[in-house]
Amino acid sequence: MSATAAQSIVAVPVGSYDVHVGTGLLDRAAEIIRTAAPAHRYAIISDENVAPLYGARVRDALGAAQTELFAIPAGESQKTREQWAHLTDALLAAGFGRDTTILALGGGVVGDLAGFVAATYMRGIPFVQLPTTLLAMIDASIGGKTGVDTSAGKNLVGAFHRPRAVIADPSVLSTLPAMHLRAGLAEAIKHGAIADAAYYGRIEEALPSLLSKPDDDSMRALILRSVEIKASIVLQDEREGGIRRNLNFGHTLGHAIESESGYRLLHGEAIAIGMVLETELGEQLGVTARGTVPRVRDTVRRAGLPSAIPKHLDAKRILAATRGDKKAREGVVEYALIAEIGRAVAGVRAPDETVLEVLTQNTDTQ
Ligand SMILES: NC(=O)c1ccc[n+]([C@@H]2O[C@H](COP(=O)([O-])OP(=O)(O)OC[C@H]3O[C@@H](n4cnc5c(N)ncnc54)[C@H](O)[C@@H]3O)[C@@H](O)[C@H]2O)c1
Ligand SMILES: [Zn+2]
Repeated sequence: MSATAAQSIVAVPVGSYDVHVGTGLLDRAAEIIRTAAPAHRYAIISDENVAPLYGARVRDALGAAQTELFAIPAGESQKTREQWAHLTDALLAAGFGRDTTILALGGGVVGDLAGFVAATYMRGIPFVQLPTTLLAMIDASIGGKTGVDTSAGKNLVGAFHRPRAVIADPSVLSTLPAMHLRAGLAEAIKHGAIADAAYYGRIEEALPSLLSKPDDDSMRALILRSVEIKASIVLQDEREGGIRRNLNFGHTLGHAIESESGYRLLHGEAIAIGMVLETELGEQLGVTARGTVPRVRDTVRRAGLPSAIPKHLDAKRILAATRGDKKAREGVVEYALIAEIGRAVAGVRAPDETVLEVLTQNTDTQ
């Protein structure tokens, strides 16, 4: 990663809103929030890990009298209609009206849930994303998808609701547990693989030291480039008919592996495995340049991410789970693969036998 990345704040436009990236930005968030989403009152929604670390800084910057902090327990298990009901009831009880801006301070769980609260509260009020995980900074906070999980699957109830601004301060990553930092890196590797070979190369070079100093220039440069890639794809295709499908590289098999693991694997861990397997699938189908698999596998491993399916998972069940994926069109599974590092090819269909072979050959034996 180049260490020359701007020290200052950079704003990447995503149509109607900007993603602001800058070290120490959290302390200047109030300025951006007041400009992008001026409100009579502010409701910060966060979780019980993030609120004690950063909640007071945001609340005090905006003014404690105008601002209230709501902290939910941490984790994916909270991204539910029940928690949505609990939060909207709490906002109503506290008298928050239409002239409110919601601030989502946390990882993707908080962002998706608080965004869905904002999308629905009083038929929709403004919100600002303050992502605190790498995954949320480079992926979940950009694109306007909000929602909750149900027992039938993840993200099945939700709405498109664009934030008024996204404010990403890499310095908060210093407190993020390493496993979550690695999981976020999987999406950065994906961005390079589908859209920018030079960026992919810079990530490769910066690993594994990138992981040991998450709040330095290299990480800021990574966040910025990933934000640019995601923003440009989302801008071209907000509702996922065309180029946005490229972002699904690694995700068809990745999601299936994630759900078959009973969500014991983190999303980024499952996607890391998915990228290796879908590169292999691409090579077998003649879509991906020969010799790409070892490079992807090596990058994933250097990021401390798994590159094969855990041994207790069953290949046939994973294959079946790909059909339950929201992205399966009328039961036909379409893969977003890569032609080579830096170039994606979406809409690829694969025979079951080939997928099964790839799954079986890439399952851990011990
Ligand atoms: N809307 C989208 O387009 C989109 C895209 C990708 C993922 N997502 C969603 O994002 C969610 C996953 O997000 P995530 O990986 O950020 O998980 P998360 O929100 O659960 O955060 C991971 C953990 O890190 C803690 N944490 C967050 N920031 C911290 C910090 N700075 N310091 C210390 N601890 C911190 C959290 O409390 C949590 O325990 C999933 O629900 C997924 O569906 C949404
Ligand atoms: Zn993902």
